[in-house]
Amino acid sequence: MATSMNVDYSTTIPNNIGLSEDRRVLKALERWHPGYLNWWNDMGPEGFQEKLVYLRTAVSVDLDGWAKFGYVRMPEYRWGILLAPQEEGRVIPCGEQAGEPAWQEVPGEHRAMLRRLIVIQGDTEPASVEQQRHLGKTAPSLYDMRNLFQVNVEEGRHLWAMVYLLQKYFGRDGREEAEELLRRQSGHEDHPRMLGAFNEATPDWLSFFMFTTFTDRDGKMQLEALAQSGFDPLSRTCRFMLTEEAHHMFVGATGVQRVIKRTCQAMKEAGIEDPYDIEAIRKLGVIDLPTIQKKCNLHFSLSLDLFGSEVSTNAANAFNAGVKGRYKENRINDDHKLLSDTYPVMRLIDSEIKLVDEPALSALNARLRDDYVKDCDKGITLWNNTIRKEGIDFQITLPHVGFHRQIGEFAAANITPCGKLLQNGAWDSAKDDFLPSKADGDYIASLMKPCWEPGKFANWIAPPKVGIDNKPGDFEYVKIEG
Ligand SMILES: [Fe+2]
Ligand SMILES: [Fe+2]
Repeated sequence: MATSMNVDYSTTIPNNIGLSEDRRVLKALERWHPGYLNWWNDMGPEGFQEKLVYLRTAVSVDLDGWAKFGYVRMPEYRWGILLAPQEEGRVIPCGEQAGEPAWQEVPGEHRAMLRRLIVIQGDTEPASVEQQRHLGKTAPSLYDMRNLFQVNVEEGRHLWAMVYLLQKYFGRDGREEAEELLRRQSGHEDHPRMLGAFNEATPDWLSFFMFTTFTDRDGKMQLEALAQSGFDPLSRTCRFMLTEEAHHMFVGATGVQRVIKRTCQAMKEAGIEDPYDIEAIRKLGVIDLPTIQKKCNLHFSLSLDLFGSEVSTNAANAFNAGVKGRYKENRINDDHKLLSDTYPVMRLIDSEIKLVDEPALSALNARLRDDYVKDCDKGITLWNNTIRKEGIDFQITLPHVGFHRQIGEFAAANITPCGKLLQNGAWDSAKDDFLPSKADGDYIASLMKPCWEPGKFANWIAPPKVGIDNKPGDFEYVKIEG
């Protein structure tokens, strides 16, 4: 393999995997390409396909200088297939075959499991583009609009990444799965996306920022676990996807932070000290902090469901097989087999929430979720620092992991954000205190008016500290005219 990992732009599909010499896969991908473009045009950002957007495109997988910025129309974005460089002597990081050379081809006995994991990951990528397709029209600035489109085109590229694996390694069923990935649709009655959170609506920009904070971060954790796969092409694909994913969480966490900052500033200007004086705060045209907390509760709980059941045989099998590792598996200091280890899992026993030691192998979903919750704290800290600096007496907190769950241990229980178990009747009357109500949604929707003058921001969100690619504040990130 050549030492340079620069991207070959000579084929229609940019890549760093020597696609021009792999005629079979090149042909398969070229056949899939028109369907992808149809999907992008039908289901991608609505109303902006012809506009020039200042986007980054990956040009190499070297950590410094892997992307270049320039104006591009989204349908002409150079989606491509990029894998992190092959690591010399890489081994299967976990499970029964830990320490043996990593697989360069799909091992027959794990084929079905690998295909399922790749399809599930692949399904989430186009789903979020579909969920966010209406948001351009109400963008609070050109800066935010550009960030939305950047996230969208990269999710499109992540779909390409998974489709490449399917086309190259899974023959005919791989091709069929690749078609299905373009057929399912977020929220569709008959053929919805595979996972719950990816069928929810993203009705407004605060939802978008919460989604990129919490749901893209679930994506990060899943990619981290797949980056620890013994199937080397999957690992390399995921490692490069993680480079792009970091920006998505940046967009989310700083987006919410800017909403919070603007709210605090407006409160101070108006002499309002009480963050719960919601009526007065909404008169200022900003989003009150208690409503931001409710949005946080909603998106965090929906994202937790993506980790699956706390105790799971599927997760144990994937780890044992060496196809999916733990978060940072290669940095954990143990035997990477977990045969006799235990892991504390939060469970609901006789109407009480208790930590119970479970076999570590079956508790891998719980463990990945715990790592995720720790990672979420970074965003929360950023937000609370902003509130404190602005001098408002309020704190955003993550709700209890049992709150508002549809999947796993707490699915049948009503648990408050503080972790208190409620009876059905009590839950129904308290629900609107924990989750955005219809009225909250209507209020936020009333703020969603486009603000597209270069350098201008909607009243409910503060400008960012620095521009993208160090551009000045009034940079025209999207050329709306012509
Ligand atoms: Fe992604
Ligand atoms: Fe993402």
